[in-house]
Amino acid sequence: MTDTLLTIENLNVSYRGDGNTAHILNGVDITIRRGQSVGLVGESGSGKSTVAFAMLGLLAGNAEISADRAAFDGHDTNLASDEPTALRGTEIAMIFQDPMTALNPMFTIGAQLVDIQRRRFPKENRRKLWARAEAVLADVGVQDAADRMHCYPHEFSGGMRQRVVIAMALLVEPKLLIADEPTTALDATIEAQVVEVLHRLRQKTAASMLVVSHSMGLIAELCDSVIVMYAGTVVESGPVGDVLHRPRHPYTRALLDCEIDPYAAFDPSQDLATIPGNVPDPARRPEGCIFAGRCPSRHYRCRERPPRRQVGGGQSYSCWLEAA
Ligand SMILES: Nc1ncnc2c1ncn2[C@@H]1O[C@H](COP(=O)(O)OP(=O)(O)OP(=O)(O)O)[C@@H](O)[C@H]1O
Ligand SMILES: [Mg+2]
Repeated sequence: MTDTLLTIENLNVSYRGDGNTAHILNGVDITIRRGQSVGLVGESGSGKSTVAFAMLGLLAGNAEISADRAAFDGHDTNLASDEPTALRGTEIAMIFQDPMTALNPMFTIGAQLVDIQRRRFPKENRRKLWARAEAVLADVGVQDAADRMHCYPHEFSGGMRQRVVIAMALLVEPKLLIADEPTTALDATIEAQVVEVLHRLRQKTAASMLVVSHSMGLIAELCDSVIVMYAGTVVESGPVGDVLHRPRHPYTRALLDCEIDPYAAFDPSQDLATIPGNVPDPARRPEGCIFAGRCPSRHYRCRERPPRRQVGGGQSYSCWLEAA
């Protein structure tokens, strides 16, 4: 058994529209080891969900997808075929941003928690599946789980619903758990509780995790390593501590400067940090470095595509600047 659970090399996704093609992912490489938790961070629209959806066969019908290589659990997979769809719900589970998209308002929580297990454990009887569901529901912090199994989703608060969704994902005992912005729809207190549940699960389950977020803070809390994406391209990756404390790519630095420190005293005279300029139009991507248009350190070489530089310890970044 190899140490690598998932590997995708040179992933490209584009959407053909009226007269032009939007290049959403451009040469994305991603590797997740068994038991490892990887964070995918970047601004809105950078293509984070597209990476997750490509792994699960959830891209829209007009998507064109290609990769030099994709393999999951030791088997080569063709991302452009139905194979990723087959992995969904058995080998790979996903926690979406909005728990209501994953829950059916017409059925009780218990019925849905039983139903989700059917594909994974087709021969198991209903009573056993119900008992498993109840135990996992209690495990993710839903009190009075036995009674709550009979409730409908609208009877749960947002934070509780997200716990149910996490329970759903765990019940299929996936090899890979993808959490796409798992806390964005929640308020700060509930967010902290859900992060705590995910954190506990990380320590308990052997599953690998891919955590998609625009928040470096969340990634730091839940992940071993991080991939920083900008406009559909990986600009930096490496162990989370190294990337956070010694970011090499100007975009990673800018992103970290924009993070709000929840523990800092509020100073109304201080403007919130932003990255000036806009993300390039995916239908008109510039030649050379993709971040050059907004980069404070750009120079003439940035008209050409930057090299991928290895820093050591697994950290690498794509930039003409040799980081100090
Ligand atoms: N079916 C589609 N046709 C054309 N463009 C699409 C389609 N689906 C997504 N896109 C585009 O792909 C880009 C990347 O979207 P994606 O949802 O992956 O970004 P993201 O990083 O997850 O953003 P967010 O943080 O807002 O969730 C966006 O510019 C989006 O408009
Ligand atoms: Mg997204």
